[in-house]
Amino acid sequence: MSQPTPQLGAIDPKLFRQLLGCFPTGVAIITTRNEQGQPVGLTCNSFSSVSLEPPLVLFSLRKASTLLDTFTAAGSFAINILSQSQDALSGRFASSKIADKFEGVAWRAGRLGTPLVDDCLANLECGVYAAHEAGDHVIFIGEVKHMAGGSADHALVFYKGAYMMLAESLRKLVLDGKLDTAAIDEAYRALYGTLLRLACERASQAELDAIEAAVTEIEQHQGADALPQRIDATARFFSSISLAGHNEALRLMAQTMTAVLRERMAYVLPVRRRPDVFPLRRKVVQCLHARDADGAVMALDALITNLRKGDAGQARDPVMR
Ligand SMILES: Cc1cc2nc3c(=O)[nH]c(=O)nc-3n(C[C@H](O)[C@H](O)[C@H](O)COP(=O)(O)O)c2cc1C
Repeated sequence: MSQPTPQLGAIDPKLFRQLLGCFPTGVAIITTRNEQGQPVGLTCNSFSSVSLEPPLVLFSLRKASTLLDTFTAAGSFAINILSQSQDALSGRFASSKIADKFEGVAWRAGRLGTPLVDDCLANLECGVYAAHEAGDHVIFIGEVKHMAGGSADHALVFYKGAYMMLAESLRKLVLDGKLDTAAIDEAYRALYGTLLRLACERASQAELDAIEAAVTEIEQHQGADALPQRIDATARFFSSISLAGHNEALRLMAQTMTAVLRERMAYVLPVRRRPDVFPLRRKVVQCLHARDADGAVMALDALITNLRKGDAGQARDPVMR
């Protein structure tokens, strides 16, 4: 008999959800048929493997879901694991306002007759193995009876309440040259130009000092053997600017751009000392301290232009680290 756990005070539901959001998950659409035989389903990220032998998986369904009775009555259901290009579909099956979520959606009947959504990474057809009430949810355990892999795309990831692209795919985009330098530079000018203007208005002194500290670190780690430190310092330079702008949406976009930057510095951009651009990066910091938005944006423009000029014809063979 397990020891009773001591009462440690109420759990703040908002913080609980926020902390749960720190655990990145994939996203699936759980489907079955209602009494009329029509396909129904919902978006779910509580899917998990349970056992290998027998092959068991689970998902947990809100008791408040309009589909609770349907899944309780159903003898089978399917897990349709979404690819990153299916975020719109995830949004559709997460809505409680759409009567027929399958309208206009490509699907086929599986071996157990359960609806299988097309173009998913994988479709697992399950017979209901057990269902257990747990708080405000019911855990449905399924025994996998039939399964098929599908799209070779990357998974749709749900993290901190948002859909994310996987870093792996960014590396692949960078190494395959699908993110060309001109497009990335244009994005940098647009995104960090805006963030510098916001930082001139909103940044605290400590935030500006953090940006300057990153610049000092970049200058200190110029040797070919200091590439990892220079990558970290450069990423910190841009992420400090994104923090100083105090706009959460732009900061999230900047996170992706910083992931791209890390991949490009690690695998694509030439590894060489660039003392020639030190004054330009320092100019960005000077203008920030002076709250001179136009000056900061112009200095960033000049920094990117000169970084590229210096890189021209020097691009590293992506496979050669
Ligand atoms: C990314 C994501 C994951 C979700 N995961 C679950 C889940 O695991 N269990 C659940 O009951 N609802 C989950 N939901 C909410 C349901 O998708 C949503 O409440 C449901 O589709 C609304 O329809 P219903 O009221 O008919 O259930 C999730 C929503 C999103 C956007």
